Amino acid sequence: MRGKLTVGNWKMHGGLTENAGRLAALAKGWHATAGRTLAVCVPFPYLAQAREVLSGSEVGWGAQDVSSHAAGAYTGEVSGAMLADFGCRFAIVGHSERRQYHGERDETVGAKARAALAAGVTPIACVGETLAERDAGTTGEVVERQLGAVVDALGADLARIVVAYEPVWAIGTGRTATPEQAQQVHAALRRRMQQAGARDVPLLYGGSVKAANAAALYAMPDVDGGLVGGASLDANELLAIARS
Ligand code: 13P
Repeated sequence: MRGKLTVGNWKMHGGLTENAGRLAALAKGWHATAGRTLAVCVPFPYLAQAREVLSGSEVGWGAQDVSSHAAGAYTGEVSGAMLADFGCRFAIVGHSERRQYHGERDETVGAKARAALAAGVTPIACVGETLAERDAGTTGEVVERQLGAVVDALGADLARIVVAYEPVWAIGTGRTATPEQAQQVHAALRRRMQQAGARDVPLLYGGSVKAANAAALYAMPDVDGGLVGGASLDANELLAIARS
């Protein structure tokens, strides 16, 4: 039984005052529910705040990126051990916005996933095709290549990660993949993970998830939860998604 995992990705939004209300609302509104897990991935400067407000609650927290290096002269980077220091349970790696705007390559994503795991932080490895790739009929090929780099980097540790399928054309566009479209890709990801020996890795869907569409997506057999961007900035909306 894999249960449902909902992770909010605040992206580059928030501020101390605004976060305080949002985090408190999550801590207060979320109660341990069998088979349901909720976490938020906040910008690095607010990890301490997330830890302070969410400690003792049932809501987990994490970061939106992690360095592929353990330590050293890497200006601006944040290591897995630093995330662990702040109690992070998760680190998103390979988000399409990192791939698109920061030139992150498949191999780097694999290395970041490995670095997170080495520090005891669970990587949420993102894959997903652009609209042009979907229209060209190469969705399967693209996600297979992206996931393959993570599989190659992790070996037996693959079973300890989370994978998120986020079609780029559905991110922040209000255009969600249909539950069937999501399921089709998730089924392929599941097969690939199982071939690699990772049977029960949670497969999240991301891309314009909101309370109004989460239940239909979560009803799909291979959709184990959601990675939620815009809607995660509204605590009540995120809580409603997590209860879907
Ligand atoms: P939206 O939910 O805003 O479409 O963003 C999805 C996403 O990128 C989560 O990582």
